[in-house]
Order: sequence, then structure tokens, then C-alpha cells
Amino acid sequence: MTPLFTLLIFSTHSVLAQLLLPSPAFLPPPASSGTRAYNQDTIPNSQWSTLLGNLLYFYEAQRSGHLPNTNRVSWRNDSAVNDGSDVHLDLTGGYYDAGDYIKCTFPLSFSIMSICWGANDFGRGYDLANQTAYLDDMLAGAHPTSRTLYVQVADANLDNAYWGGDLNIPQDRHRIRSMTPGEAVFPGTDAAAGASAAFAACSNLYANRNLGPSFSAPASLQNSSYADILLTHARDLYAFAQTYQTAVPQAGVAYASSSYGDELAMAALLLSWATNSSDYYSQAESYYKQYSLGGTDFVFNWDSKTPGLVVLFAQLANAGAGAGGSFAGNLSGWQVEAERYFDRILNGGGPSFKTNSGLLWYPGDSDDASLNPALNAAMLLTRYAQIATTQEKKKNYLDFAQSQLDYALGNNPMSAPYIVGSNPNSPVNPHSAMASGGNDINHIDTSPPQEAYILYGAVVGGPDRKGRFYDIRSDWPETEVALDYNAPMLSLTAMHVLNDTSDPFFTRLQAGTFAANKPGGKPCDAAFPCHSGLSKGAKVALGVVLSIVGSAIAAAVAYYFYRRRRQRSKY
Ligand SMILES: *[C@@H]1O[C@H](CO)[C@@H](O)[C@H](O)[C@H]1NC(C)=O
Ligand SMILES: *[C@@H]1O[C@H](CO)[C@@H](O)[C@H](O)[C@H]1NC(C)=O
Ligand SMILES: *[C@@H]1O[C@H](CO)[C@@H](O)[C@H](O)[C@H]1NC(C)=O
Ligand SMILES: *[C@@H]1O[C@H](CO)[C@@H](O)[C@H](O)[C@H]1NC(C)=O
Ligand SMILES: *[C@@H]1O[C@H](CO)[C@@H](O)[C@H](O)[C@H]1NC(C)=O
Ligand SMILES: *[C@@H]1O[C@H](CO)[C@@H](O)[C@H](O)[C@H]1NC(C)=O
Repeated sequence: MTPLFTLLIFSTHSVLAQLLLPSPAFLPPPASSGTRAYNQDTIPNSQWSTLLGNLLYFYEAQRSGHLPNTNRVSWRNDSAVNDGSDVHLDLTGGYYDAGDYIKCTFPLSFSIMSICWGANDFGRGYDLANQTAYLDDMLAGAHPTSRTLYVQVADANLDNAYWGGDLNIPQDRHRIRSMTPGEAVFPGTDAAAGASAAFAACSNLYANRNLGPSFSAPASLQNSSYADILLTHARDLYAFAQTYQTAVPQAGVAYASSSYGDELAMAALLLSWATNSSDYYSQAESYYKQYSLGGTDFVFNWDSKTPGLVVLFAQLANAGAGAGGSFAGNLSGWQVEAERYFDRILNGGGPSFKTNSGLLWYPGDSDDASLNPALNAAMLLTRYAQIATTQEKKKNYLDFAQSQLDYALGNNPMSAPYIVGSNPNSPVNPHSAMASGGNDINHIDTSPPQEAYILYGAVVGGPDRKGRFYDIRSDWPETEVALDYNAPMLSLTAMHVLNDTSDPFFTRLQAGTFAANKPGGKPCDAAFPCHSGLSKGAKVALGVVLSIVGSAIAAAVAYYFYRRRRQRSKY
């Protein structure tokens, strides 16, 4: 009953990047260069171009498996090169999800979808910054090859949680939640649909299917045969997701059914764009209705895609998708929906609010990685603004988006840009086992005293609700890095490369501003519980457990741990 499908997210060696990488290679400049104003009235502003380059470089630092000989991150080594060998599969390659060595398909798929969609709408930014070849290389690193969708590959042994370099990652990396037919033990609709959406979005990019004059041309990496391959994967996975949903109803028990309606709708909608098919389009519409996604105020993130759906529905309607707009008809209907959502973000009325220091905040979702909801909103606003109903709304949306971007780039109470290596005031202690150079799990803050490697281009979690940021390695809610944290920043930056002569905010910050504003005391969050009677050792251990994410009992438990930690929006 379950169709065989040709998918696996992790592999680097079978697909080669197609474009010639620049020679000499782009390398992130020292953080001190982030203090220099560009001072020219031309596009591209080299500070934005450099930022785009740094943000992509972060993904290169996160690579798993055998590194290509073009690897620019001199301190990275081949790693986890036996993944999958226990099941006679090659599960090597791909990207580590965050500050540890877990590979997780679901957030990766979201990041890839977001990046391809952004490289479609703001693609000329990549071209102008000479970063398109690196974009191509980054996407090639996430390409699938095998016949099974593995949703997560990780060290599942909690007792032996690993903190250390990339040479000694424990070999025993259980595959979690594989979706080989017959072997599937967890619901997989969400993961399959999420991966389908990523393939469809990237197919659109490689096929040069742009969304009309309101948006830039896609980044120049067209290859129609590659686009076709991606589209085939997208279709197969979508079909699997649909079949799985109906074939294994008990799979939904652990999940509220609403948790995959948005993924199914997003996959269908991107497929309708890719194939010009009214069938996919009406499926997207009916999922939208079936799962009651209309009129909601959800955050946009790796597990909550509804706001992105609304924007994409509006974009397709605006582009007149289908013959003469035959299937994506009602632009004004989708504009009403999108503007209701965005106006409640700007003016209040929804669950989010602006903190005293100006960061968009979603209670719960923003409690860790606070920049992510704000940057995702800024990214959607910047995109939607191009097709807003009035000039006034367009301006308000762009202004609000700019305020969130500026906040992340240093216009905040700490005067710290929250991107590693971009300015002397950037964080220097990102929660990243590989960059830290330490291997003492009980002393990750102090061993070594200074982080060994600079993880250029990594967007960190972000400050607390009061705007305080503690640059402490073990404080993963504030300092961890992740594939999906960088994704909205990439699209926003591409947009600024193509359109902005003025500097990113951080060029105004000369060395010392963050030092002058550093908060006293301790953080008060999930890694440093404020009112707990736990000993210091227990707190550190808790932070490590939560951040390394393993499982004492079974791989399955690890999956839930992980999912819970990174999925506050729906539970
Ligand atoms: C991109 O490459 C061109 C041609 O080599 C060069 O003239 C230009 O300065 C580069 N732009 C950036 C932002 O690196
Ligand atoms: C890569 O290997 C070198 C030794 O060859 C080591 O110094 C370095 O720390 C390793 N990198 C990581 C991220 O562990
Ligand atoms: C286009 O993609 C196909 C399939 O991945 C690949 O074989 C081919 O080399 C690519 N063409 C170019 C010009 O990169
Ligand atoms: C989409 O399909 C319609 C037929 O339904 C066709 O007339 C139109 O040209 C197609 N558009 C594209 C971009 O292929
Ligand atoms: C399109 O949406 C608008 C606004 O919601 C609505 O008033 C109108 O009836 C819709 N038109 C069609 C043809 O559905
Ligand atoms: C570029 O800037 C112009 C003028 O500020 C604005 O109207 C347009 O929407 C911007 N384009 C993008 C892609 O943001």
C-alpha cells in the first residue's frame, strides 16, 4: 500500500555543485571589518554582500560526512562517515542541525524550502554578491539519493552525551524514525510533506519559475534537468505523505492532526507553482480549509508554516498562476487574509507583541531562540510588502521588517549584532560543540576559555524578553546556532544586497559597545532555571542534556525530546 519512494536527505557525494566556485574563494573577513561604513551610493553595498557570504559560509561549517575538496572551513574534518552503515545504507553527508551533531530532516527541509523560495524572489541579490555558486553548493549538499526518508540521524545515548570536536563523534548513531515502508514507527506525513515542499521550492528555483515583476529574477543557477529531478522527488514525497496519512490513521495519535495540515498544504501549493496544475492548487486550498488554517495568528517557523502559505497563495494569485489566472484567482481574498495577519503583528491583537526594546515576541515560541520568530516575520513582511494593497501598508510592512532586522544586526540594548564574526561586538561563545574546541562536557563554558574557532555567519538564538543577552556557551536558548536560524536572515540579506545602498546596522558599532552593555547576573531560561534548587552541576548537566539531545532509553525518546524542545508552537 505504501509507495516506494526515492528519497534521502543526507548525502553530499552524489550531487556535485554545478557552478564554478569563485577563485580565490570567498572567505569571511575579520570581524573588525564590520565597523567600516561602505560610504558609496552604489549597489551592491559590500557590507551586505559580505554578510550574505558569511551566512552561507555557516552552512558549510555545518557539513557532515566527507567534505568536498572545495571546503573553505579549514578547521572542519570529515565526520560521521559511517552513518547508515549498520543498515547498509549511505546516510552520510548533509548538515548538522544545530550546535551538536544531530542531523534532522524536518528542520533541514524547512530551511531549504525557505532558502530556495528566498533565492527565487530575491535571487539577484545572490548574483550581485557573487554568492550564487555558494548557494548552489549549499543546496547540492542537502540533496537526497537513497530510497528511504530518514528523518533523523543522531547519537541516541543520553548517558554518553557527546560534547567535543568532529573527529570523535560516537559511532553509535541510531537512525530515528526511518520511513522505510513497513518500518515506520512514527507518523511521517509532516516530514514527508516538509521534504516535498523543499524539493518543490528548489525545483522552482532551478527551473527559473519566477513570480512576476513584483519580485527579482531568481538566482542564476538554472538547470532544467536538475529541476525535473527535484520535482520528481517532490511529487513522490507528496504522494507518500498523502497515502501515509490515510493509510496509517493511528499514526496521528501522537500528533494533533493539525500539526501536518500546514505541511501538506505548503507542499501542494509549491507543487502547483512548479507544475502549473490546478489539481495541486485545489488540494492546497482544501487542506487550508480542512485544517482550519484561515484566520490564525501562528508564528512562522520550521514547524508552523501557515503564515508562509498565506503569503504564497497571495503571490501565486498576484502572478496569475495557471492560464490567465485560472486557478489561483482571488488575489484580493488572499490579500485580506495576509493583511489581517500582518496588521495584527504590527498593531497588536494577536498573541505577539513588541518588547520594550522593540523585538517582536511570541510568548512561548520566543522563550528560546527569540530572534527566529522575529526574523521569520520580517522575511515574510518584506516579501509580502511587494504586493500589498496600498503604498501605506507596503511602507509600514517594510519599516517593521527593517526594525526587526536592525535589532538583530545590533540596534538593541546590548549594542551587539547577533551574527558571529560580523563585528567586534558579535557573540564569541556560540553554543556549538564543533566550534568550541572543548571536550569537557562538565565545563563547556570554561574549557577552553576562548572558543577555538570563529563560526562566521552563524545567527545565534537571541536575547531574553528584557533584551539581555548572555554570551555563555551553555546557555543554548540564547547562544545556540541552527540551520533554520540563518534561513530568514539569508533571504532578508539577499533583498538588501539587491536594493539597499545604506549599511547594515552593525557598521555603526565600534569595538566595545557590547562589553559596555553586558548584563550582570545569570540568564533565566530553560538552560539556567531561575528559581530552581538544582545545584550548579545539575543545571549544567540539564543544559547539556537538553542541548545535546539524546535519549536514555531509545531513539524514539530522543526524537520526542528533540521535537519538544524545538517545537513549542503547537504543544
Ligand atoms: C563580483 O565579481 C565581479 C567580477 O569578478 C567583481 O567585479 C565584483 O566586484 C564582485 N562583487 C562582489 C560584491 O564581490
Ligand atoms: C579537525 O582536526 C584537527 C586535527 O587534524 C583538529 O585540530 C580540529 O580541532 C578538528 N576540528 C574539529 C571541529 O574538531
Ligand atoms: C544539470 O543537472 C544535471 C542533473 O543533476 C547534471 O547532470 C548536469 O551536469 C547539470 N548541468 C549543468 C550545466 O550543470
Ligand atoms: C499553465 O497551464 C495552462 C493550461 O491549463 C496553459 O494555458 C498555460 O500556458 C500554462 N502556463 C505555464 C506557465 O506553463
Ligand atoms: C475574493 O475575496 C474577496 C475578499 O475576501 C471577496 O469579497 C470576494 O467575494 C472573493 N471573490 C471571489 C470570486 O471569490
Ligand atoms: C526596493 O526598493 C524600492 C524603493 O525603496 C521598493 O519600492 C521596492 O519594493 C524594493 N524591492 C524589494 C525587493 O524590496
